[in-house]
Amino acid sequence: MKVLLSEKQIQQRVGTLARKISKDFSGREVLLIGILKGAFIFMADLARKMTPPVKMDFVRVASYGSETQSSGKIKFTKDLETPLRGKDALIVEDIIDSGITLKHLYQRLKARKPRSLKVVTLLDKPGRRQVNFQADYVGFQIENHFVVGYGLDCAEEYRNLRAIYVLK
Ligand code: PRP
Repeated sequence: MKVLLSEKQIQQRVGTLARKISKDFSGREVLLIGILKGAFIFMADLARKMTPPVKMDFVRVASYGSETQSSGKIKFTKDLETPLRGKDALIVEDIIDSGITLKHLYQRLKARKPRSLKVVTLLDKPGRRQVNFQADYVGFQIENHFVVGYGLDCAEEYRNLRAIYVLK
């Protein structure tokens, strides 16, 4: 395994994202919506670096249909426990790859009429996009490597590593 992003690089970037997001949401309470499982470590660090009051909830989604088609849909295997209507919400994701998960999730959550709905992703692989989706806040744009660590797994291993590695 080769280090792609060190613990220090990640923590600095998460701090920068937290400051920007805190400024944008200044004076408002933010509902952080983590996408399980990969986002839980990023969300824990981001939340602790933010200054506005924060509440947290999680979703877990599964893709069905063909995952390689833009028509691939998602279903909630764990839905929010918080009503979204009228809230200022921020979806927290670890990585955007094809874009299918977030495109569908964003539409489903938007339909619940939050006051605002934004997206932060730690990693973005624009070269893998199959559907058009852009996050509002991006930590790092990366090449098409298979990456693990800091929440990201390979067959459930490596999520607890403090850095992000390319798996060879
Ligand atoms: C990963 C990642 C995103 C999704 C991105 O989750 O956390 O949710 O895939 O892919 P997409 O842009 O192609 O839709 P994964 O299904 O590996 O689940 P996990 O977070 O539980 O590891």
